[in-house]
Amino acid sequence: MTATRARSRYGVALCVLAVLAAAACRNPAPLQRDPRWPEPQRGAVATAHPRATQAAIAVLDAGGNAADAAVAAALVLAVVHPQAGNLGGGGFALFVPHVGEARAFDFRETAPRAADSRRYLGPDGTPIAARSREGPLSVGIPGTPAGLYELHKACGSNRFSFADLARPAIELAQSGFAIDAWLAHDLAPARVRERFNPAARALFYPGGLALAEGATLRQPELAQTLSLFANGGPSAFYSGRVAEALIAELAATPIPGAGGGGGGWIDAVDLATYRVVPRAPLRGWFRGFEVVTMPPPSSGGLMLLQVLGMLEGLPLDAERARSLAAHAIERQKGARPSTDDPGLSERMVHWWIEALRRAFADRAAHLGDPDFVDVPVAQLLSPAWIAERRISIGESAEPAVGAWAPPREGNETTHISVLDARGNAVSLTTTLNGNFGSGILVRGAGFFLNNELDDFALAPSSPNQFGLVGSSANAMAPGKRPLSSMTPAVLRAGGHAAALVIGSPGGPRIISSIAQVLLRTLVLEEPIDLAVRAPRMHQQWSPSTTRFEAGWAPSLLSALQNRRGHTIEIDNETFGCIEAIWLADPGAEPVAVSDPRGGGAAAVQKRAMSTPARPPAAGAAP
Ligand code: DON
Repeated sequence: MTATRARSRYGVALCVLAVLAAAACRNPAPLQRDPRWPEPQRGAVATAHPRATQAAIAVLDAGGNAADAAVAAALVLAVVHPQAGNLGGGGFALFVPHVGEARAFDFRETAPRAADSRRYLGPDGTPIAARSREGPLSVGIPGTPAGLYELHKACGSNRFSFADLARPAIELAQSGFAIDAWLAHDLAPARVRERFNPAARALFYPGGLALAEGATLRQPELAQTLSLFANGGPSAFYSGRVAEALIAELAATPIPGAGGGGGGWIDAVDLATYRVVPRAPLRGWFRGFEVVTMPPPSSGGLMLLQVLGMLEGLPLDAERARSLAAHAIERQKGARPSTDDPGLSERMVHWWIEALRRAFADRAAHLGDPDFVDVPVAQLLSPAWIAERRISIGESAEPAVGAWAPPREGNETTHISVLDARGNAVSLTTTLNGNFGSGILVRGAGFFLNNELDDFALAPSSPNQFGLVGSSANAMAPGKRPLSSMTPAVLRAGGHAAALVIGSPGGPRIISSIAQVLLRTLVLEEPIDLAVRAPRMHQQWSPSTTRFEAGWAPSLLSALQNRRGHTIEIDNETFGCIEAIWLADPGAEPVAVSDPRGGGAAAVQKRAMSTPARPPAAGAAP
C-alpha cells in the first residue's frame, strides 16, 4: 500500500474511531453492574518504582479509577525512573472496564516526515547500528504526553484534572528524591555516561561522577516541562518552548559517524501533528479466560494469542499429570528431586519453545504498522493456521520453520498494571526503547528522547538491538510507527471482570515472559508470585538458539539438548520484569506482584506495599 493511500485510509479510520471513542468515553455511561461478576474487594497497583505505586494507590484511595491511577504512576515514573519512564518516548495502554468494551490506545512514536532509511547506511550500503540506537536519527516523535492525556480524558473518572494527577510527579521533580539502587546501578557503567549528551551528563554525572544510591536528584527543568504540560495539555509539549527545545537539542546532537547534527530531522510540523491512535484491542481465549491485548503496531498481542492458541490444543494437562506422577515415583524411590517444577517436563518446555519460534517467524515476515501495510491479522490468528502450526510441532527442535505464506493467488521499557475497586483495569507499557533512550536529554526541558526508530527493519535481514529481523512490512516510512513487542494484556474471567492485569519490559522477551507467566499460572496452577519468580526462557526464531535464565534444572536443559535437539544458551541476564495483578475469583481481594527481577513495588489498597526484593544483581533487567 502506498503511504498516501495508507494515510487517507488511516485518516478516515482515525476519525471514525475518534467519534466512537468520544461517544463511548467522554461521558462515561454509568458503570454496568452484573451480579454474576462482583467487583474486587480492593484496588491494586504494580509498577517499576515504589514512588509510582504509592502515587497510584493514593489516587485510588481518593476515589480515582484505574485510568487516573495509571496516569499518575506514569508521570511519576517519568521523574524517578528515567531509564524508561518518560515524556520523550511512547507506548500502549489498554483500558478494560469491569463489564463492557475494552479500549486500546496507541501512543507509539512515529518516524518524522524526513525519515529515510538510507540515512542509516554507511558508504558500503550496510547499516551503521549506532545511527538507529543513539544520536538524532534514532529519535521518533514522542507519543507519551498525548497518550497519557488521552487516556485520562477518555477513560478517567472525571474526579481529577490532569494537573491534579501530575502533582506528585512535579513535586518529585522539583524537590528531588533519593536515587535508588537500581538507578545508581544503571548509571554506573562508563558506557552509559559515554552515550549521554552534555545535558544528561550534567544532570546525572555532576562533577563527572555518577549519582550514587541515596543521592538526591532534583530536576527543575523537568518540573517546569511537567507543569507546562499539566496545565496546558499536549499542545504545551508539542508546540511552544518545549517543542522548540527538543528541535534545538536534536540539531545540536551529532549523527554518529557523520559530520553534522540532526537539524531538520524532527520539525515543528512533525510534533504538532502527532496523534494518538485509538485501536480495537485483540481478543482471544485461553482456558476460559478472554485475553484482551494490543493489536499491531505491537506484535506482542498477536504473538501471545498465537502461542497460547498453539499450546491450548496440545495435551498440556495430560503432560503435566504425567510429569507429576513421574516425579512422585522418583521421590518414592528416594531420589533427590531433579527440579523445583515437577509439573514442568522437558516436553512441555519444548512445546513452549516451538510455539514461540513459530510465532516469531510470522512476526519477522508479516508485521508492521497497520496504517501503512496490510497486516494479515485474521489469517495469522485463524484457527486453521494455528492448528497447522500446532500440528507441525514434533518431538524435536525445528529451527528451520518458515513463516505463514499468503496463498499464491492472491533496554528499556516499563509497565504499569492497575485494577480499581470497581473492577476497571489499565495495562500500560511505555518505553524509550534502550535504557535512557537515545541518551539525549533535552536542554531546558529536562527529559530524555527515545531511540525507538531502531525498532524498524532498517535493512533486510539486518538485526536490531534485540537481534530481531523484519521484512518490508516494518520498513521505515514518514509517519509510520515501528513494530513493537510491548504486550499490555488483561485476562477476563468468562469475558467479564479482570482476572489478571499484566505487562513487562524486555523487548521481544516481553512476549515470551508474559506467555510463560500465563502458562505457569493457568496450566501449572502456580500461584502468581511463584509464576513471576520462576526462571524464564526465550526463543525468537532468529537466532534459532533458545536462551535460558539461570535457575533451570540442569536435567531438563540437558534433556532439551540431547533428546529434543535444541541449541541452548544460559544467559546471565534476566528476562523481562513483570508487573501483575491477579484476582483468583471475581469479588476476591487481588494479589499484586512486582517482579523481583526489578526494583518495583506492588500494593493492594489499605495493605502494606511490597518493597523491592533485593538490590540489582549483575545481570539485572536491561
Ligand atoms: O517496542 C519494543 O518492542 C521495544 N522498543 C521495547 C524495548 C524494551 O522493552 C527494552 N526493555 N527492556
